[in-house]
Amino acid sequence: MIKFTLNGKTVETNASPTARLLDLLREEFELIGTKEGCGEGECGACSVFVNNLLQNSCLIPIGSIAGADIQTIEGILETEKFKILDESYSNAGGVQCGYCIPGMIMASAALLSKNPHPSEAEIREGISGNLCRCTGYNMIVDAINQAAK
Ligand code: FES
Repeated sequence: MIKFTLNGKTVETNASPTARLLDLLREEFELIGTKEGCGEGECGACSVFVNNLLQNSCLIPIGSIAGADIQTIEGILETEKFKILDESYSNAGGVQCGYCIPGMIMASAALLSKNPHPSEAEIREGISGNLCRCTGYNMIVDAINQAAK
């Protein structure tokens, strides 16, 4: 039995310690905002916060998260930061197919927590672990820039 905090609630699972956090979130807890893209730690679609640090959940075995604080995109929906990003992504046209957006929002939130007024270069660096297949990076950078104002 592995116990941890998920979006503010204490939860437990009997899943194999070697199973991926990504699968646990999507299949057992039905938190499908966390996406699978590459499954290899390259695309950031599966980004979550583990103890407030941005991590790729496809690379995390469940056995390593005992006692950890996990936050998914669903866990930040009610925060002021999410509402600002939601509006700025919408204003900037930052969402195309939308598949990368939960991960992009998590990366944006992580960046703005550390650096509330990032330069364009810092924004690009902040989302460098997140790939957008529609290649809508300029609009996403614009969205984060708007959110930072
Ligand atoms: Fe985890 Fe791509 S699915 S980084």
